[in-house]
Amino acid sequence: MSLPEAIQPDGATHVRYRGRRLIYFGGCDYYRLAHHPKLLKAHAQAAARDGLGTGASRMTTGNHPAHDKLETSLVKFFGSETATVVGDGYLANIALGQAANGRFDAAFIDEKAHMSLRDAAQFIGCPVVRYRHCNADDLARRVSRRRAVKRVLLMTDGVFGATGRVAPVGDLAKRLARSATLWIDDAHGAGVLGERLRGTAEQCGLGGRRVIQSITFSKALGSFGGAILGSRWLRAALLDGNNVVTGSSSLPAGLAKATLASLELLRTRPALAKRLRRNTAFVKAKLLAAGLPIGDPAFPVFSLDCPGKKAAMALRHRLLGNGIYPSCIRYPTGSEGAFYRFAISSEHTREQLEHLVAALSG
Ligand SMILES: Cc1ncc(COP(=O)(O)O)c(C=O)c1O
Repeated sequence: MSLPEAIQPDGATHVRYRGRRLIYFGGCDYYRLAHHPKLLKAHAQAAARDGLGTGASRMTTGNHPAHDKLETSLVKFFGSETATVVGDGYLANIALGQAANGRFDAAFIDEKAHMSLRDAAQFIGCPVVRYRHCNADDLARRVSRRRAVKRVLLMTDGVFGATGRVAPVGDLAKRLARSATLWIDDAHGAGVLGERLRGTAEQCGLGGRRVIQSITFSKALGSFGGAILGSRWLRAALLDGNNVVTGSSSLPAGLAKATLASLELLRTRPALAKRLRRNTAFVKAKLLAAGLPIGDPAFPVFSLDCPGKKAAMALRHRLLGNGIYPSCIRYPTGSEGAFYRFAISSEHTREQLEHLVAALSG
């Protein structure tokens, strides 16, 4: 296995690949904020003043005022009791797994949960039971086999990033006691789903103290970093000798400032979310009409599985022939096929979206 060929971003909606400028539907920067002048300015100014990195963990000398400010903004934006910023979304899950150690009698995890959530499950210190992907009936069956269990933890991605499938967290929650804690890895849902863009739980009408969210800043927020959103016990556990918080350098101030700028943009410019939803609805209606799979209608991602190498290469050539970068999650190898993933952004033009639909349905 080797890395795929490197690609060079070229503005918000294009990349350079093998000497060509191609339209880009890859990645998870759903508002293309990674290229937004406000984020770039915030990052550059902080880097010029504070340096590139903090050079220390938050528990020693690496706690920068921008971290505190960002946590205050995250609490306001997501409506959680507390927010704790860490180095990235993967670390957010690991830190959370460590903080949850000894607090639960059993954890139930979606079989297709992100690898960071599966890794984090190893730290919780209780039996971890896998249930069938997004299947509330299967969850209920497995829970009923452990009736004696009191402190229950559910672990699921809010949105499964490869396919764009939104987890049925409302249905899953109904199959658990009201005292159960719901840990939602909302790397993809945060900033995209829900009226206030708070994520999957908001979209499914869930909230309050039973929900814990782990998020990344590297998708809808267009920056880099991660955070854990939850109630006070969680914050206390994260600050009480947590290995990730104690043993890793804190988020560079420039990234904290850039993330503050992106939260502000999402808060004050509802047109961004409106455009993303409009673009998603446009593409998915056309795909549906063409008989193509659309994934979850609410989420700006869909995927096409090409099981054989021939079909995979044919799609690759069609996309390249139409000036579109062929973004894969699984690239064709040997005789195997590929898994193509497409992410619609708020910044794609109608012409680019029409072009994608034409390329896929041609
Ligand atoms: C569901 C999910 N959780 C966690 C992560 C990790 O986030 P980060 O890239 O910030 O480490 C990702 C990123 O790809 C993800 O898709």
